[in-house]
Amino acid sequence: MNDLIIQNIKELILPKSTERPLKGKELDELNIIENGTVVVKDGKVVYAGNHSDDYEANEVIDATGKVVSPALVEAHTHLVHGGSREHEMSLKRQGVSYLEILEQGGGILSTVEATRKATEDELFKKAEKNLLTMIEHGVLAVESKSGYGLDKENELKQLRVSNRLADKYNLDMKHTFLGPHAVPKDAKSNQAFLQEMIDLLPEVKPYADFADIFCETGVFTIEESRKYMQAAKALGFNVKIHADEIDPLGGLELAIDEGAISADHLVASSTEGKAKLKQSDTVAVLLPGTTFYLGKETYADARGMLDNDGAIAIATDFNPGSCVTNNLQLVMSIAALKLKLSPNEIWNAVTVNAAKAIDVDAGTINEGDKANIVIWDAPNHEYIPYHYGINHAETVIKDGKVLLDNKIQLKG
Ligand code: NIG
Ligand code: FE
Repeated sequence: MNDLIIQNIKELILPKSTERPLKGKELDELNIIENGTVVVKDGKVVYAGNHSDDYEANEVIDATGKVVSPALVEAHTHLVHGGSREHEMSLKRQGVSYLEILEQGGGILSTVEATRKATEDELFKKAEKNLLTMIEHGVLAVESKSGYGLDKENELKQLRVSNRLADKYNLDMKHTFLGPHAVPKDAKSNQAFLQEMIDLLPEVKPYADFADIFCETGVFTIEESRKYMQAAKALGFNVKIHADEIDPLGGLELAIDEGAISADHLVASSTEGKAKLKQSDTVAVLLPGTTFYLGKETYADARGMLDNDGAIAIATDFNPGSCVTNNLQLVMSIAALKLKLSPNEIWNAVTVNAAKAIDVDAGTINEGDKANIVIWDAPNHEYIPYHYGINHAETVIKDGKVLLDNKIQLKG
C-alpha cells in the first residue's frame, strides 16, 4: 500500500532531473502537468504525472485548484547571526552606502560583534526561528554560511549551530565557511587576516561543505580570493565566492577559472565574465532581493547570462544587513520584475538549479526522488511570483509526510 496520493492537482510542476545545472534556454523548459497526480511510498515519489486512478494509499490529499511543486531550495543564506541592524535603514536614507557603513565599523562588523557576544544556544534559537520561517514558505533545502565570527572560536560556534539545526530537523542543509567575510578592525592587515582564515580551513573542514569569500573593494582582492580558493580546494572544499556585488573586480571570471560550484551576486559582472559562463557549469546565484534592499537601480544581468548559455539560480541572501528577508517567494517576484525572468526560468532557478549550486539531492519530484513537496494555494505557477510578498505555501510535505499546514484558521 502507498502512503500518500495527491490527487486532482491543477498544475503539477516537474523540473527535469539532470546531472548538470540547466543552462541558457534549458531554463525556460519546465514540465507542467494539468490535472496531475503524485503518489508517495516510504518517503519517495512512486509516480508523478498525468491524472491516474491506478494507485491506492492510506492518505489522499485533494489538490483541486492548487499547484504542486518540489519544495524550494534556498541556495545562499547567512542564517546564523546575532543581533539586527534596523538602525542602518536611517543611515541608508541619509545616503550612506553599504561599503561606507562597513568602513566605519558598522555593517557586517556590527553583526560580528553581536554574534561574538551571543552564546551558542542564543544563536541556535534565533537561527531556528528563521529556518522555520523558511520552511513555512516552502523551503526544505538550505545553504547556511558562517562569516560573523572572524575568529576560530566564533566561526566554529556558527558552524556548529548550522550543523545542529540540520540534525534536529533532518534537513538537506549545506554549511559554508565564510571566514574571509570582512576584515576585523584590529587585524594587522588584510593579508595577515586572510592567512589566519586560510590556516583555519583544516579545523572547520568537519563542519563545512564549502569555503566562501567576499571579494569586493575594501574587503578581499581578486588575488587574495584566488589564494584562498586554491588553499580551500587543496583541502577538498568545494568553493564559492561573493563576487562583483558592488564593483566589477572580475570575481565571476575567477570563479569560473577556479571551477567554483557557484559565483554569487554578480550584479556588476563584466561582459567577459558573462561570456565565460558558456564553457562552465559554475552556477550564477543571483540575489535580486539584495539589490532591491540596497536600493540599487541596476540588477544582475540575468538575461545576458542566459543568452551566454549560463546556469543561474536565485536565492534570498538572507542576512541582517543587505537582505533582511527569508521569504524566497518574495525574491521570486523580484526576479520576475527586475531580472526579467519568465515563470519557468524562476521555478527552475529555485528548485533544480539551486540544488546544483549547493550540491544537494533536491529540487525535483520525479519517480524515485525524495518526496519533498509543496502544495501551493495558487491557481497556477505564474500566480506565485505575481501576487507578491505573502506566503502561498499551504502544505509542506517532507519525506512523504505532512510537516506543516499553513491553512488559515481563526480562533473563535
Ligand atoms: O551577501 N556582501 C557580503 N555579505 C552579505 C551581507 C552581509 C551583511 O551585510 O551582514 C551579502 O550581501
Ligand atoms: Fe551573501
